[in-house]
Amino acid sequence: DTALKEVAESFHVGMAVITERLNGTHHEIYQREYNQITAEWEMKMNIMYPTEGRYDFTAADQLVDYAEANGMRIHGHALIWHAATPTWVEDFAGTDEEFETMVEDYIKTTVSRYKGRIVSWDVVNEAVNDSNGELRNTVFLQRMGADYIQKCFQWAREADPDVLLFYNDYNLCWDQTKLGTVLNLIDDFQTNNVPLDGVGFQMHISYNGPSKARIAENTKLVTDKGVLLHYSELDVKVNPDNDISELTEERAFAQKDKVTEVVEIYNAIPEGSKFALTIWGLRDNESWIPNQQGHADWALFYDEDFNIKKAHTGFLEGLE
Ligand code: G3I
Repeated sequence: DTALKEVAESFHVGMAVITERLNGTHHEIYQREYNQITAEWEMKMNIMYPTEGRYDFTAADQLVDYAEANGMRIHGHALIWHAATPTWVEDFAGTDEEFETMVEDYIKTTVSRYKGRIVSWDVVNEAVNDSNGELRNTVFLQRMGADYIQKCFQWAREADPDVLLFYNDYNLCWDQTKLGTVLNLIDDFQTNNVPLDGVGFQMHISYNGPSKARIAENTKLVTDKGVLLHYSELDVKVNPDNDISELTEERAFAQKDKVTEVVEIYNAIPEGSKFALTIWGLRDNESWIPNQQGHADWALFYDEDFNIKKAHTGFLEGLE
């Protein structure tokens, strides 16, 4: 069998999706390969709560329905993220107390709406700075104080006692400063009985790094805490330095090898920490990376014509 979800027996295999691509060839491949989905952007605050006092769950409902109709789990992503905060929240006119009540209402409304239908939520995404490991200076930190993350997790738990609650961030598989802050956060949550079920390593990585040893070490630092670990947004750049103009065979093999390493590491973590490995998009041309990087890349498992790439084989080999 070459379908990822069939071969990965001890964890779910996820895919980032959008409502516009739930049909045709996308749908066929989704059904064949994955048993979990994440909304690539339609379950963020700027989409679900675009205007003060007016929620819009149209897209989120459609994605949850799609998951159920196709026997997949759906991972909620992401309740609080500075980069997907609607303007009206950034510019919130009320007092800090009113701001906090508004966030509590948003989290409880959203989490209770999908109670029993969504397996897990990224409650807070990317709250830690790259440079110094301090909390990122977001509107949530400014309005609610340094324990805003804890408050958000508590509200999510009150709204659904069973949904798994994740903290999600990028560079955690190699940035020791950032990971250190997250490990301290886990300790703080555990000491103070704040609910936290797991951590998401986004895994936006490259063909040439980080090393397998580094990823394995950082993975262990988290699983040693006894929490779940989600590799939540895997993609592997092959052109981070813009030195190729098409995907060369050499880079395609290097990408495959990196994927194999990642899957080997994930597959070897203790059962109690396994959750899912999610790939951040289907086809190379649909990835966020070329846009964000400003030049071409081929970071995913399928090419523009829906052909399976070597990276896909690399995933299967990581499970052998
Ligand atoms: O807002 C318009 C929408 O009204 C319209 O229907 C749509 C048509 O394409 O465009 C919309 O804008 C979209 C935007 O998100 C909405 O916030 C863009 O197309 C869409 O590409 C965009 O980017 C997403 C980004 O998060 C912001 O939400 C990316 O697709 C997605 O890959 C990216 O994902 C993030 C993770 O959530 C967190 N980690 C980093 C990762 C990459 O930035």
